[in-house]
Amino acid sequence: MSISRPRSRIYGTGRYVPSHVLTNQDLECMVDTTDAWITERTGIKERHIAGEGEVTSDMAAAAGRAALEMAGIPASKLSMIIVGTISPDTPMPACAVHVQQKLGAGTCPSFDLSAACAGFLYGMSIADQFIRSGQGGYILVVGVELLSRILNWKDRTTCVLFGDGAGAVVLGPSDEGPEVERPRGVLATKLYTDGSLAEALVIPGGGSREPLTPEALAASRNKVHMSGQEIFKVAVKNLTSATKESLDAAGMLPEQVDWVVAHQANLRILNQVAARLAIPPERFILNIERYGNTSSASIPIALDEAVRDGRIQPGHNLAMCALGAGISWGGAVVRF
Ligand code: ACO
Repeated sequence: MSISRPRSRIYGTGRYVPSHVLTNQDLECMVDTTDAWITERTGIKERHIAGEGEVTSDMAAAAGRAALEMAGIPASKLSMIIVGTISPDTPMPACAVHVQQKLGAGTCPSFDLSAACAGFLYGMSIADQFIRSGQGGYILVVGVELLSRILNWKDRTTCVLFGDGAGAVVLGPSDEGPEVERPRGVLATKLYTDGSLAEALVIPGGGSREPLTPEALAASRNKVHMSGQEIFKVAVKNLTSATKESLDAAGMLPEQVDWVVAHQANLRILNQVAARLAIPPERFILNIERYGNTSSASIPIALDEAVRDGRIQPGHNLAMCALGAGISWGGAVVRF
């Protein structure tokens, strides 16, 4: 996935988080935990939780609308919608079909992509390949999760970690000519999967392997189950290597990175990744304190926040990396 033309570039970013905030203090009343434990082990202070009746595609459409507005592109001009999610409105059809309807995006192909926390990076990479292949048009890539409905709220080892939200970007063919010295756009993407770790983070019930029964429901087999320490170790290692490999593919050194926009899973993971990459933690866009882990939504939410508050400027070099269930992970280098 090395640099070649036509390149894709980000024309707009958007985000949506539900208004209801669940704090660590709130969680102290729900499970055997403390604000101190959650803060020290994860960096999370609060997370947003979707309201009753609010569904995944509502959040995705809201983020998509904001990204389209920034890009100045009507939904009717979209040539594709890719939604990275593992918490769609319904198992079938895809969340993306509802997003298409809510945005009024015509009949462009619209599909979901299941790569958990790496879903946004996978989606951006696929969109980039379509645009590079010269198919034209603008592609909406959304990362969205409504994890609060698939968590076991009695399991303190998982329920304190996650939050709901959506982020989106509009990608389109670059409008810069070959004469531009530092062209903007997606410079490199790298994707990986290691299915041998599939059981480390899993919703075991509800699929063909374990169709739901009353017993399975009672045992929360339809909720997230996780081996936290296993994921922690592999996350530090693979987020670091994926970032290095995508920087290599883009012909860039860590010191040339203006901002790292990484998946926000755990502050300790990101601090260790920063140390291994020798990139100062101050150059990481961090918001895990306020949102928790929003899985596929975390990179585009962080990106949109930093674009709108002016930290990320046109021409800045961004390194992105994410890892999640699968395990699936990846990295990307984008000149914004
Ligand atoms: N409150 C209080 N105590 C808790 C809680 C809690 N919410 N959860 C677990 N504990 C207890 C454990 O039971 C254990 O008690 P014990 O020593 O008596 O057995 C103790 O705290 C330590 O537990 P560990 O699992 O060793 O804690 P650790 O330091 O590994 O932190 C954590 C756990 C935060 C889950 C960490 O492993 C982690 O972040 N892993 C990555 C997982 C992750 O981010 N997953 C998200 C999806 S994948 C991704 O996005 C990368």
